[in-house]
Amino acid sequence: MQLKSKVDVLLGLQWGDEGKGKVVDVLTPHYDVIARFQGGPNAGHTLEFNGMKHVLHIIPSGIFHPDKLNIIGNGVLIEPRILSQEVAALREKQVDAKHNLYISKKAHLILPSHRLLDAANEQAKGNAKIGSTLKGIGPAYTDKIARTGLRVGDTLEFDFCEKYELLKLQHLQMAKTLGFDTAAFRIDGMTLEEYEQQWMASLDLLRSFHLINSEYFINDCLRQGRRVLAEGAQGSMLDVDFGSYPFVTSSSTVTAGVCSGLGVAPSSIGRVMGITKAYCTRVGAGPFPTELFDDTGRTLCELGHEYGATTGRSRRCGWIDLPALRYACMLNGVTDLIVTKPDVMNDFDEVLMCDSYLINGEKTDEIPFEFNAVEIQPNWKHYAGWKQSLAGIESFDKLPQRLLDYLHAIEEATQTPIMAVSTSPDRKDTLFK
Ligand code: GDP
Ligand code: IMO
Ligand code: MG
Repeated sequence: MQLKSKVDVLLGLQWGDEGKGKVVDVLTPHYDVIARFQGGPNAGHTLEFNGMKHVLHIIPSGIFHPDKLNIIGNGVLIEPRILSQEVAALREKQVDAKHNLYISKKAHLILPSHRLLDAANEQAKGNAKIGSTLKGIGPAYTDKIARTGLRVGDTLEFDFCEKYELLKLQHLQMAKTLGFDTAAFRIDGMTLEEYEQQWMASLDLLRSFHLINSEYFINDCLRQGRRVLAEGAQGSMLDVDFGSYPFVTSSSTVTAGVCSGLGVAPSSIGRVMGITKAYCTRVGAGPFPTELFDDTGRTLCELGHEYGATTGRSRRCGWIDLPALRYACMLNGVTDLIVTKPDVMNDFDEVLMCDSYLINGEKTDEIPFEFNAVEIQPNWKHYAGWKQSLAGIESFDKLPQRLLDYLHAIEEATQTPIMAVSTSPDRKDTLFK
């Protein structure tokens, strides 16, 4: 089949929160369609422009551009009440999502009882908690793979309520087996039954959207030469296969996930833009070799406002991890790097990079299978800080030389060119090379 254009991809190379939302918003004018391909309301993508700040969870980050189409692909999980809250929050900002948001009929639903089960699973893990966002992601993807899930298109069928009740019953039984106190469980301060009523009420809104077979729609777009950007959620180090399992999310966060999450062929993938912070953060449990437990870590957290956009939890902070970054570039076939948040380190005397790991006395560049179990000592490279504000700098080559040196070291280490640097949360502060 002759396609006139390809799907470009923008995804996170670390443990999420790299600034995907901001950059997708910046890139949207160059595309016709923005499509989410995996994840769900565990994501929190922040956009800032004209003094306004907005956080998106399920809706793609192109939504503020009324002439661009946004698609929630089949690989995404939809929680209808969270979707309706997002739509309402956009309406308050004069954005009518109904106008330019299409939803795949094959996208799976997160039921209130998936959220209950998420909490039950986490509680049962005791000290081994993953630190899930508790949006029901794990249980909903479990049902998808187990072939017991419910999809957006199913809400149009006459027997939807029957199927819903059956599935909910299974979830309640599982929670009981885990010894979970279902009566004490609350979502947004509501009991399961109270929340369920609101969830059911939001199905009407969900059904009122353009519900489509998005795989046909997107491939038609490519045949016509319309430009499509796939927006990742989470990050490569949270990928269900390649992340620090089991401290991962439950979807394919890498480029391969675009193919199954949108229904496009591998040969139709174009540029792969990988985004990384100039340092590193992680929220939730799991290995983080370059984590800082000292004042520098706390400074990164404070100056970077490193608090989760979805849960408000403070993010763990550390230096950039090149073995992890190289791994992510390899898995995704990254063609272009985007670096965010160097401005957070403006006042630092020196900036460190982890160049390789020392594991049991041996130097390695690989993420080990035993990532969670072994003690990893980072080998550091030291770079002089640029000690300068980046505010007002309007072109890439006007960045301070020491920052350019630092960025160049990232390019060298990953063998991947940097295409842009972001220097503030605002849309306007994005410098293309
Ligand atoms: P996402 O999940 O990848 O979309 O990222 P989040 O929105 O969860 O977290 C990124 C945070 O950093 C948000 O608060 C953004 O507004 C902010 N941000 C993005 N780019 C920059 C930047 O270049 N500098 C600074 N200081 N903040 C940024
Ligand atoms: P965005 O798209 C950062 C983390 C959680 C937890 C693990 C599993 O904003 O970058 P889950 O709710 O999926 O069962 O949680 O994954 N996590 C994220 N961390 N950014 C995200 O999304 C995340 N989505 C999930 O903190 O450790
Ligand atoms: Mg986020």
